[in-house]
Amino acid sequence: MGKKSKSKPGGLSGNAAKVASRLFSDPEVSQAFLDAVASGSARQKAVVWLRDRREVPWELAPRPKWLPSEIDLLEGPVHVGNSEAYASGAAYPLDASSAWEGSLLQALRGQPIRRMLDLCAAPGDKLLVAQALLRPQDVYANEVIPKRAAILADNLDRCAVEAQVIIADSSQIAEQAEECFDLVLVDAPCSGQSLIARGKENPGAFHEKIRQSNALRQRRILSNAGRCVAPGGWILYTTCTYSLEENENLLKWFLERNPDWNSVSVATYAEFQSAHATFPCYRAWPHHASISQTGAGGFAALLRCPGERPGDLQVPELAHHAFKRKWTGAPAPA
Ligand SMILES: C[S@@+](CC[C@H](N)C(=O)[O-])C[C@H]1O[C@@H](n2cnc3c(N)ncnc32)[C@H](O)[C@@H]1O
Repeated sequence: MGKKSKSKPGGLSGNAAKVASRLFSDPEVSQAFLDAVASGSARQKAVVWLRDRREVPWELAPRPKWLPSEIDLLEGPVHVGNSEAYASGAAYPLDASSAWEGSLLQALRGQPIRRMLDLCAAPGDKLLVAQALLRPQDVYANEVIPKRAAILADNLDRCAVEAQVIIADSSQIAEQAEECFDLVLVDAPCSGQSLIARGKENPGAFHEKIRQSNALRQRRILSNAGRCVAPGGWILYTTCTYSLEENENLLKWFLERNPDWNSVSVATYAEFQSAHATFPCYRAWPHHASISQTGAGGFAALLRCPGERPGDLQVPELAHHAFKRKWTGAPAPA
């Protein structure tokens, strides 16, 4: 049996304090962060509009600079799932932190984003933000866990987003879809520390072994994502966790191995620049939630592959990984 970490008042372990002390040199800021996580109160919701934006009876929060026009932030508890806008698939609810992470993609408006892959897609939040903001023609949505793939497929169906839903390991996709995509989303499976800030149980989230095993898995997924991106294309890397090894250090590792790739700076996110990296990447914190309206917080970075986009992209050969309800055959070159 592994050694249990001692619980601190408020339900956070000593491991959380260790993570916090690496993130913040000022003990007062570190404590403010831990208090915000332990409070479990970072629950702000958002709604992304896929189409048919309409008047709704929900109270909307003021619009921060980072928020694109396709997304609203909501004030107080709102049951979007009971609305006609939800049932018709016009509006899709998500956490404010997910909205903030996905909205980094607004930097790609006007770029030729024709074919997109989401490597870790279920239940579909980031994919739907990307769809609302960028309208790619061909969408591939991958999820390794079949039950979650079914939820993903239902969400995409309801929102009328045509996508090839696939169930495959990222290594299989990298082998069969090398340099096929303009944009790959990697909303990586992670230790999920911010779930606690949202009031959910996540024991062990701050434990070193959990952080490290997640970082290893993230390295593998991000490397495979890199293989899938066409020259001139992009990766959006996001997590809902705070630890350095799953965020800045992970990207540092990737950029050292791929020195031609760049992490791209996004003007509307300047206030969120991480203090833990010498390259552009962004952090939202739970103890800033009331000011920045970014909910439980998270990490987001946009990476660019070197080179010029080819006129036509290769068609990915992923048919035999297709989730049976969604596959509609191979698309034309994008
Ligand atoms: C943070 S969640 C994704 C949330 C989703 N992008 C959204 O915005 O709604 C991470 C997802 O990665 C999946 N996953 C777990 N292990 C994986 C692996 N080895 N490769 C790719 N995805 C994995 C999980 O099942 C989970 O659905």
